[in-house]
This record gives sequence, C-alpha cells and structure tokens, in this order.
Amino acid sequence: MKRLLACLLLLASSAALASEGHGLMYHAEYDLHDKASLQRGARLFVNYCMGCHGASMMRYSHVARDLGIPEKVAVKNLNFTGQKVGDPMITAMRPEDGKAWFGAPPPDLTVVARARGADWLASYLRTFYLDPKRPTGVNNLTFPDVAMPHVLWELQGWQRAVYAEDGKTIEGLELARPGKLDEAEYAAAVNDLVGFLVYLGEPVRLERLALGWKVILFLLLFSWLAWLLKKEYWRDVH
Ligand code: HEC
Repeated sequence: MKRLLACLLLLASSAALASEGHGLMYHAEYDLHDKASLQRGARLFVNYCMGCHGASMMRYSHVARDLGIPEKVAVKNLNFTGQKVGDPMITAMRPEDGKAWFGAPPPDLTVVARARGADWLASYLRTFYLDPKRPTGVNNLTFPDVAMPHVLWELQGWQRAVYAEDGKTIEGLELARPGKLDEAEYAAAVNDLVGFLVYLGEPVRLERLALGWKVILFLLLFSWLAWLLKKEYWRDVH
C-alpha cells in the first residue's frame, strides 16, 4: 500500500514538473476591451512580425473597424506593405523563401493563439536567449531550437542562459544587454502583442463580449417584468 502511495506521489509530482516545463512560463495579461492595448499590439505585429508572417484570414479594414482605428490612420500605420485597406494581411515574404532562409517557413499567425494559447505565446516571446550553436545566434526556452530569430531584440535586449551546476540544465535567463525597454515595459509590450494575436484568432469575440452584456441586461429586464406580472396575478389569489 505504502509503495503504491509513493508511486502515486511520484507520478503526481513528475506530472507537476512536466506541466511546469522549464519553469519560465509567463502568464499573458491582456484585455480584449482595451482597444488602446490591442492597437499597440497591432502596430507591433505589423512592424515586427509581418515581414515574415501573415495573418491572411484577416483584413486590414476589419482590424481598423474592430479596434476603432480610422481608416486613414490604418492605411498609414498598419499597412506598410502597400496593399489596399480591404486586403487580407498577407506577408511580403514567399513561403518558399522563408523555408530557404530559415529552414522552416514562418507559419501564418491568424489562429496561432488558438493553437498555442496566450501564455505559451507570451512565454515564447520572452524566452529567447543567446546561443552561439544556433544559426540565428539565439535559442528559445519555450520552443527549443526554433528557426525564428529574436526579432524583438531591439526592445527586449539580449538574454543569456544561467546554467545549473551540471553546466547543462538551464535554470533561468538573465539580461546580457539591455534593449530600449526595461523588463516590465517589455512584458507589457508582449502582452499587447499577445492580446492582438488572441483577437486575430477570434475577432468575433469582441462582438460576443459586447453582446453578452446586452443579453444579461435583457434577461434582468425580462425577469423583472415576469416578477411584476406574477405579483399582478397573485394579487387576486391572496
Ligand atoms: C525574420 C522572419 C521572422 C519574423 C520577423 C518573425 N518570425 Fe515568427 N517565425 C519565423 C520562422 C522561420 C518560424 C518557424 C520556426 C520553426 O518552425 O522552427 C517562426 C515561428 C513563429 C511562431 C511559432 C508558430 C508555431 O506555432 O509553430 C510564432 C508564435 C511566431 N513565429 C511569432 C512571431 C511574432 C509574434 C513575430 C513578431 C514579433 C514574429 N514571429 C516575427 C520567422 C519570423
């Protein structure tokens, strides 16, 4: 019996360890109601990601409308690849070039937040670290041996791995060279970007959230009316 218990305990703890992964999982904090944050995320996405990735199931005009960006501003600030505002957000890079240059084609990111989850994305964007063994000079704790370079280095700076005593296990990351943003500012920028990616994966969610409140209001109103009606009926009975 004792042995069984010990086995179970061991299993439970190893499951806990496995789910923690490298222990550097970050939580993404974003708010789909916060249009300013989503707009900042959209700007980061267009500036830093669309050189390689597209979000081809989404149109610029749709983003502009949902995030409350006037179309003129959207054309000026979002649409660097010179497409029309009604066009889908495709990248200028051809997939075959991407594959040739990086060894793996940069995937379309329209629904990546649904596939990977927001916390995974935040962790991914925050755990690039210098690794001279990789062709890009960086590796990633969340996506080991990833082919993507650390495109946000200018903002985050460069991190290096801190190794445990065995010289192999990575215990954490530390800043080797600071970027334009400090740690908290970079975390906030990543949250904006992840919020935008979550929105991309499910744009109707914004509408659904707004609709949710209307439905609740309607139900409250309806319950109140029903209650009034009930009172009215029972008045005669009593
Ligand atoms: C210089 C080209 C380049 C740029 C710019 C770039 N990426 Fe990537 N990205 C790649 C490549 C190549 C891969 C494929 C990596 C692999 O499979 O090893 C990738 C993979 C990814 C993945 C993993 C997708 C998956 O589920 O496998 C995510 C998420 C991602 N990129 C997000 C971003 C974001 C967000 C930005 C902007 C901040 C960005 N990328 C900018 C080249 C790029």
